[in-house]
Amino acid sequence: MAKIAVLGYGTVGSGVVEVLETNKDSITKRAGREIEVKSVLDLRDFPGDPIQEKIVHDVDVIINDPEIEVVVEVMGGVEPAFTFVKRALEAGKSVCTSNKALVAAHGPELLEMAKKRNLNFMFEASVGGGIPIIRPLNQSLTADEITKITGILNGTTNYILTKMDKEGSTYEETLKEAQELGYAERNPEADVEGFDACRKIAILTSLAYGSTVKFEEIRTEGITKITTKDFKYAEKLGYVVKLLATSCKENDKVYAITAPFMINSTHPLYNVNDVLNGIYIHGNVIGNVMFFGAGAGKLPTASAVVADVVDCVKHKGKNVMTVWSVEKLELGDADDEVR
Ligand code: HSE
Repeated sequence: MAKIAVLGYGTVGSGVVEVLETNKDSITKRAGREIEVKSVLDLRDFPGDPIQEKIVHDVDVIINDPEIEVVVEVMGGVEPAFTFVKRALEAGKSVCTSNKALVAAHGPELLEMAKKRNLNFMFEASVGGGIPIIRPLNQSLTADEITKITGILNGTTNYILTKMDKEGSTYEETLKEAQELGYAERNPEADVEGFDACRKIAILTSLAYGSTVKFEEIRTEGITKITTKDFKYAEKLGYVVKLLATSCKENDKVYAITAPFMINSTHPLYNVNDVLNGIYIHGNVIGNVMFFGAGAGKLPTASAVVADVVDCVKHKGKNVMTVWSVEKLELGDADDEVR
């Protein structure tokens, strides 16, 4: 039996508990042991809900519990998540997270901490929700020089843009819907101003080149200035407006930008609509590959988190993540970028 703890019983945290229950048999087979959620950290109580008996309000209960071998961090935000994750690793527990703010800000140092202790720090759900993209970059595409990554990496904004385009809905009403559906970040500004997508392309670009892209240095523009009129003009030209987060490598320089772009109907991301995300990658050996699926939402995101938990349980005592060094990767001026 492998015992785990979940930090945060929000949309993703409750999804993690649900996925572990729903697919208990197949997950047990794949992990080699049954996985049980022993404790759940949340500030709230859930009277009448069976989860209540696992709820703890003090993270020390989890950190000091020698039975807990994996900690799932799904609280979001940099603090206190960073402190809790560091403490869990120091206490000899592997960590799985969906928290891109944490990974973009501190990914390489947390990976290093885990590696030194033969633990794992895994973050498949931090980019693309349920879409497998961290493992492919870490494992399946390691023979390639990645020359370009283009992604629709934020479900909330893609949902809003799709509704504005296809139904003529207003920005405000669609944002509210996306929030109600549990897609949006704690602070929706992170979605609509492009910061969430920016952090995700920073993570993917860092993994592709093995050193750290500072997300603060990526030129970023969100969707708040897009109007339904923009879609009409774009449509006349055979284009659609999408928030893209993209990076490329040319002449040994890496360029990255997050902004609304017009893309035409032959582009593989043209039909990536609603909350779906798409990531289109070019490698110098493999050519083009496309990853596509649910980029946000309770169960898809939980699917990626639980897959990480399975890996941590299966590979207990062995670090399986690849190198991502703290060394800074200097970005070229986005004005010089050839897209
Ligand atoms: N707010 C994020 C999105 C959640 O809308 O894509 C998943 O990272």
